[in-house]
Amino acid sequence: MLHTTFAIQYPIIQAPMAGVTSPKFVAASAEAGLLGSIGAGYLDGEQTKHFIQEVKKLTTKPFAVNLFVQEEPQIDIEVLQQARMALQPFYDELGLSPVQSVVSKEVFAGQVQAVIDEKVAICSFTFGIPTAEVLKQLKDNGVYTIGTATTLEEAILVEQAGMDAVVLQGGEAGGHRGSFTAPMQLIPLHELLQQVVGKITIPIIAAGGLVAKEDIQKALEAGAQAVQIGTVLLVADECEISPLYKKAVLASKEQQTTVTLAFTGKPARGLANDFTKRMKDATVAPYPLQNYLTATIRKESAEQGNAEYLSMWMGENSYLVQKTGTVRSIVEKLL
Ligand SMILES: Cc1cc2nc3c(=O)[nH]c(=O)nc-3n(C[C@H](O)[C@H](O)[C@H](O)COP(=O)(O)O)c2cc1C
Repeated sequence: MLHTTFAIQYPIIQAPMAGVTSPKFVAASAEAGLLGSIGAGYLDGEQTKHFIQEVKKLTTKPFAVNLFVQEEPQIDIEVLQQARMALQPFYDELGLSPVQSVVSKEVFAGQVQAVIDEKVAICSFTFGIPTAEVLKQLKDNGVYTIGTATTLEEAILVEQAGMDAVVLQGGEAGGHRGSFTAPMQLIPLHELLQQVVGKITIPIIAAGGLVAKEDIQKALEAGAQAVQIGTVLLVADECEISPLYKKAVLASKEQQTTVTLAFTGKPARGLANDFTKRMKDATVAPYPLQNYLTATIRKESAEQGNAEYLSMWMGENSYLVQKTGTVRSIVEKLL
């Protein structure tokens, strides 16, 4: 089983959650017997290195780093202009000035180098497949690589690229869709497992909507070698998100999440609010430009304690999350 390969106690991975996972949270997950994961998607190379060092100070247990496979956005000035205009009412209401320029930095190579320099054993990816050159560089340095797939086609591409394992992300999952082929699909985890198990030979990690012991058992029985859990850990004591966000997870109701492009330009599942509703049919800039365009709106609304313009990523089954406490105590209920 995969947890033997990873030298961890349970076949459970703490989902990498960029912007959410802190060193304390990753280390607490590792100490609780899971594979901790650093969501390094929004960090540059130096920040990734520093983050890894901080985790190492807190635990000697294995952990992974997760990176976004970045594409340079094709900038269409007209689309960018329209996307800015769609956000103007929010800038006006919050008294903000729109971002004047947006810059996308090439950070991916620096992040990969940080993983290698810090001798991190496992590196996972979302939003696509790294180039053959990057995968070779990681392999040559003994790094175990994990891809993310949301369809059978993507799972086959991950295997063909020579990656060691794949996260199958069901449509229920919180956060960004790992999708990298069109059209973006929301296949429920169990259907996805049925479609993929037996069609690829690399180990499968099941993700999406797993919030109870029975869900995890079912995924393992369906052929997954491990599971990846995100939403259920958002309310853990060691998870350092705002009280507003934790409260929103605990208070969420059935069918209250939505998949939206409005915050970042890439589809992601989170709590539906005024922002997602008003932006439903608006033009959005491609990722990561939309992410920059909405940054001040999200920051200001967080400062105002206004949940309506915040991105609060969570999975479809957030309404079933009730157990708070330490990561360890939450995990005990899942075993
Ligand atoms: C707040 C949040 C942030 C996320 N960020 C990332 C990320 O940076 N990288 C990634 O591969 N997956 C990310 N995900 C998706 C998770 O890896 C996983 O697919 C998902 O949490 C599983 O569904 P669940 O939330 O219902 O457990 C994120 C999920 C959440 C809830």
